[in-house]
Amino acid sequence: MSTQAPVLPNALIERKKVTTLTLHKMKQRGEPITMLTAYDYPTALAMDQSGVDIILVGDSLGMVVLGYPNTLPVTMEDMLHHCRAVSRGARNALLIGDMPFMSYQVSAQEALRNAGRFLQEAGMDAVKLEGGRERLEAIRAIVSAGIPVMGHIGLTPQSVNQIGGFRPQGREATAARRLLEDALLLQEAGCFSLVLESLPTRLAALISQRLEIPTIGIGAGIGCDGQVLVTHDLLGLFERFTPKFVKKYADLHAEMERAFSDYIQDVQERRFPGNEHSIEMPDEEWQRLMEGL
Ligand code: KIV
Repeated sequence: MSTQAPVLPNALIERKKVTTLTLHKMKQRGEPITMLTAYDYPTALAMDQSGVDIILVGDSLGMVVLGYPNTLPVTMEDMLHHCRAVSRGARNALLIGDMPFMSYQVSAQEALRNAGRFLQEAGMDAVKLEGGRERLEAIRAIVSAGIPVMGHIGLTPQSVNQIGGFRPQGREATAARRLLEDALLLQEAGCFSLVLESLPTRLAALISQRLEIPTIGIGAGIGCDGQVLVTHDLLGLFERFTPKFVKKYADLHAEMERAFSDYIQDVQERRFPGNEHSIEMPDEEWQRLMEGL
């Protein structure tokens, strides 16, 4: 008889709630951290059951779900609405709400008020916001209220107009040094983790080594403490463009088109609904109806 414990699928393993402390320990043990974005209940449910460590309700929502050209039009109300749906589907993953454009830039007080709404009204465990040294005041205010903050440096999509497009950052020494300094300042201000987006692999690895808090990379190479992808990119559900750093694990756009056109054909050719999809009425009730007509 085998003495080895059976290998259980992730969905059947009783997992503990992931916290910021869990992530800190994972970095210390050198265990890669997994993060994905979700914007709705069924996706959050499947993702959580698959065993992902962090679910980010990203403001990428604006592009991949709401069809905007960038993330700038996304509002607090949009974010809270989708965060609530995700929080109903996820039990174990750490849930992070992405603070939308203009919800934290005006003043530290406004940043704190809006950050609080993610926890109080939308079931999130933490918030994320974009930017380096210019965000320290807002981050300190939010952290001092007991709200965990994830930072985000490198390509920061809410500054797309300032940085001149969705382009890699930190490819020359001065910019790279500034990013390393920003990372250290964000850690000092109290961030529990940082997203590093679109950076050269060796710069992201250097930043990850210099920080005590975990880094989560997107387009930042293998040297980060964890990885994140926008789920619609991973699933092949966002057909407008696919960044170089995305690995597609499915082609759900094609699969959806196939299912929709099969359905349309079935209806047009009267193959759907079949008996198995139809509701029976007992013969005696049918008789009574006919007699009464
Ligand atoms: O909005 C988002 O999905 C993000 C990730 C790309 C990190 O910020």
